[in-house]
Amino acid sequence: MILKFLFAVALLFIIALGVLYLQVFVLGKKRKKLVFDEEYEKERAKTYPPPFPNGWFSLGSSDSVKKGQVIEVDSLGQKFAVFRGMDGNVGVLDVYCPHLNANLAFGKVKGNNLVCPFHAWEFNTNGQCEHIPYCDKVPQGAAVKKWQVKENWGVIMIWYHANNELPTWTTDGHYPEIPELKFYKKTSEVLRIHLQDFNENGADHAHFAFVHDLLTIPLANRWVTVKHQLNLEYGEGDIKNLAWFTDQADLHWRKSGKKIERAGGKAEVTFFGPGFLVFKFYTEIGDMTLVKTFTPIAQLKVRMDDYVYAPKGTFKLAIKYLLGEATTQFHDDIAIWERKKFAQKPLLVKGDGPIMKMRQWYSQFYTDSSPALPTQPQADIPQPQPEQIKLLSPA
Ligand code: FES
Ligand SMILES: [Fe+2]
Repeated sequence: MILKFLFAVALLFIIALGVLYLQVFVLGKKRKKLVFDEEYEKERAKTYPPPFPNGWFSLGSSDSVKKGQVIEVDSLGQKFAVFRGMDGNVGVLDVYCPHLNANLAFGKVKGNNLVCPFHAWEFNTNGQCEHIPYCDKVPQGAAVKKWQVKENWGVIMIWYHANNELPTWTTDGHYPEIPELKFYKKTSEVLRIHLQDFNENGADHAHFAFVHDLLTIPLANRWVTVKHQLNLEYGEGDIKNLAWFTDQADLHWRKSGKKIERAGGKAEVTFFGPGFLVFKFYTEIGDMTLVKTFTPIAQLKVRMDDYVYAPKGTFKLAIKYLLGEATTQFHDDIAIWERKKFAQKPLLVKGDGPIMKMRQWYSQFYTDSSPALPTQPQADIPQPQPEQIKLLSPA
């Protein structure tokens, strides 16, 4: 009899663990399926600001391009050839060769140069053609557009500016402790959103009580609720590209409203322009750092990558739980953003939060020439010289 009872308890315990695992680690990460309707997406897109704000954007993780490798990346309405020379430096070039438009990403790396797969012209990381195997003179203007590139936090980033202006800020020197943390994993998703919706999320105070009031632990929501204390600050002058958001989330008993001590957590978020954020989570079960990147691929199409870090010695299960919670919260937001239009003149009321202030901050990343549609920005490569035209003409 006792054995039967113990067996039943053990069985119930295993089932409960299974449900918990499913809820937190499997279901929590799944997004509600979106029925994609191209015509509706076009209508939605017309309401949003331009798809490509100015700033640094990720083209992928540093380890996605090893020494001697080249990859093709689709971002910002075009294709890029991203390669790493044998000296370890990364070059990012427009993908089409200026000779006869072969795709350079299907070429190969030789020394520190990228070699076109068609007629083997060699380009350096500045996009200059250095060698043509069957012609002893390289025309002066033989070049392909090169992009300003940086690597930080294990991410390859390029500078995009609609007017081809040089970078006015970088991520250099920020969060120098990240390389000391233990890298846990990288996740990547393509979302049908405009990246401005993500930035406005922290300023939209009212939605926290309705979208983020639940926990992923089964049944917990019957008894407890989450309360958020939010704060947003914006940089000025040389650091006007930065904004800081904090969320102190505490658990309260639903019935009495009393705060449950040592059960909440704090999120500190730094926005680095439109394409990068660093999240720091501080909780009783452990801390976690997320480097989150948003790269617009096309109108209402954004690649979101998360690089998950935690202090050495943090329990894996704690990171798994924190990541599950964070991912569920993001997905609850994303499900709304993927189905909404942009409210150009929102009907705001007291308690809505500083949404218009956030928009004002965000507007610095657009210029009058920010393309309304995913067109390619003007290349800043030298114009062909008469001599080059002669050399490139068929005999
Ligand atoms: S097309 Fe690239 S070398 Fe000819
Ligand atoms: Fe949200």
